[in-house]
Amino acid sequence: MLEARGIFFEYNGNKVLAAVRASVEKGGVVSIVGPNGAGKTTLLKCISGILKPTLGTVHLDGRDALGMPRREIAKQLAYMPQSMFFRFPGTVFDTILSGRRPYFAWRPSLKDLEKVETIIEEMELSELSMRDMDQLSSGQVQKVLLARTMIQDTRYLLLDEPNSGLDLRHQMELLETVAALAKGKGIGVMMAMHDLNLAARFSDRIILLHHGKIFSAGVPAEIVTPAKIRDVYGVESIVTRDNGYLNVQVLCCSGEQELDKPGRLPNRLSASGRKN
Ligand SMILES: Nc1ncnc2c1ncn2[C@@H]1O[C@H](COP(=O)(O)OP(=O)(O)OP(=O)(O)O)[C@@H](O)[C@H]1O
Ligand SMILES: [Mg+2]
Repeated sequence: MLEARGIFFEYNGNKVLAAVRASVEKGGVVSIVGPNGAGKTTLLKCISGILKPTLGTVHLDGRDALGMPRREIAKQLAYMPQSMFFRFPGTVFDTILSGRRPYFAWRPSLKDLEKVETIIEEMELSELSMRDMDQLSSGQVQKVLLARTMIQDTRYLLLDEPNSGLDLRHQMELLETVAALAKGKGIGVMMAMHDLNLAARFSDRIILLHHGKIFSAGVPAEIVTPAKIRDVYGVESIVTRDNGYLNVQVLCCSGEQELDKPGRLPNRLSASGRKN
């Protein structure tokens, strides 16, 4: 099990996480949801060892992960960053190969190179393999980052908004791949997500973060409710169950009068299909 407890974090004295607890079993999928700035990325970075929490513990199969060398952590836990913050100079092939870095000292082995070729084929990236990363669409970058994460051969995956930038089919394919990895290979997945419908569909548990604290955590049906969505996101919604899947339909903003004021993003409401 990957387990973080009592995580506190602050950026230059600005408190961002307080007493956050998150865990995932091997074979499980846990989504972290919450509004922009809630602390999802910061939490994933604290768990993956990129940021050092001010307080708290992270255990990887019972071992203290915060005290482990980075290379050792990287053999057990792979982190996929939010792609908008990711810049990689080099080709698709080199970027994916860099996921094998924890396993070689100077040069990759034949096995490392073969693994890259296999995953490139599996993820249908062959045509792009020699292209520079800065010549890809954002959805293509996302796929390359996932390939780089998967090739790390770890027991846990931490994915920051893995489906952002992907079209509908690729979102479904990517999340189905992630779910299949979890169930088929017994990998524990923790991912930050914005889409509550997809989070509910693909997760065993959801952690709802609000202002750096856990607002609620549990199985999807406990978290994806109109009351919690109103309290955390400030929007009215209807939640139904269609074909066995939870389905959130956003109706309008709770703070509608506030939003009616000039300059308060009224366009965003109609653009996302909400009631004007
Ligand atoms: N490097 C940084 N320095 C200072 N403050 C930061 C830094 N990174 C994030 N923050 C702040 O920490 C808070 C949490 O940010 P974080 O990126 O974890 O949120 P998030 O839930 O991932 O948001 P989003 O959904 O937009 O990705 C925000 O208020 C953000 O402005
Ligand atoms: Mg984020």
